[in-house]
Amino acid sequence: MKDILSDFLRDPGYTYHIVSKIPFPYEFDLEMRVNPGFEREYNYLGAIKLSEPDRELLSMPLGVALSKRKSVRRYKMRRVEFKKFSTFMYYIAGIRGYKYGYPLRTYPTAGALNSPEVFVHIDNVESIDKGIYHYNPFEHTLELIKPGDFKHDVYYASLDQSQVLEAAFNILVAGIYDRTYSKYGLRAYRYVLEDVGHLGQNIYLVATALDLGTVCMGAFRDDDLSRVFQLKERELPLLLYSVGYPEDI
Ligand SMILES: Cc1cc2nc3c(=O)[nH]c(=O)nc-3n(C[C@H](O)[C@H](O)[C@H](O)COP(=O)(O)O)c2cc1C
Repeated sequence: MKDILSDFLRDPGYTYHIVSKIPFPYEFDLEMRVNPGFEREYNYLGAIKLSEPDRELLSMPLGVALSKRKSVRRYKMRRVEFKKFSTFMYYIAGIRGYKYGYPLRTYPTAGALNSPEVFVHIDNVESIDKGIYHYNPFEHTLELIKPGDFKHDVYYASLDQSQVLEAAFNILVAGIYDRTYSKYGLRAYRYVLEDVGHLGQNIYLVATALDLGTVCMGAFRDDDLSRVFQLKERELPLLLYSVGYPEDI
């Protein structure tokens, strides 16, 4: 155990990978952990019903979307339409059905445990006030965490990445670690990152198909970002995405 600890301190990623092999090197008491459920509990200040997704807006062939997909870091100061935003939210992270009571999403998750949660910083979207929101996929609503202009707070937390300032909105994907941990124990951290990666490709492809641009950001100040989005302690901020109409450059 002492060796594992000193290896871990030197290189947590590699050591974690080794100790999370199946079968696990030591017994782990999964009874200790409880799945907190799939509906995030929080005292939201209100909710905005998004419009039904418009499949017609996503008519770009998959092959074209895949070849056009790229990271876009400059955006026009142009408002994103409500219908387009609603369509974007549904196709990146909506619920497409249920199996044995588990919500099934537009991306796969380990054990259908739905580890990712999606938060949105709204700056310039039609009919939605600026503020910090949570996407509720069960209701297809944006739930208000706090109203106001938080662009510079998100920008600071992103280590001053300028795309955050130009974006019409920024998406934060957090991993709800305990959902996956409740079933997979030490394996969970791998799976949470992998779940979030699948959602991330949805963000890129759906943005491309809707003629929007996006870029994924892994570089940010965790604690500041968690504070802006009011994440709970065991909700892990994992990836931030800016989204807007691409600037022609
Ligand atoms: C996990 C991850 C973290 C990333 N972090 C950042 C970031 O902090 N800032 C940024 O501008 N781009 C970031 N990127 C985008 C990459 O730089 C980009 O995907 C890469 O240069 C390839 O370009 P492409 O997406 O246009 O194909 C990140 C991408 C991934 C997958």
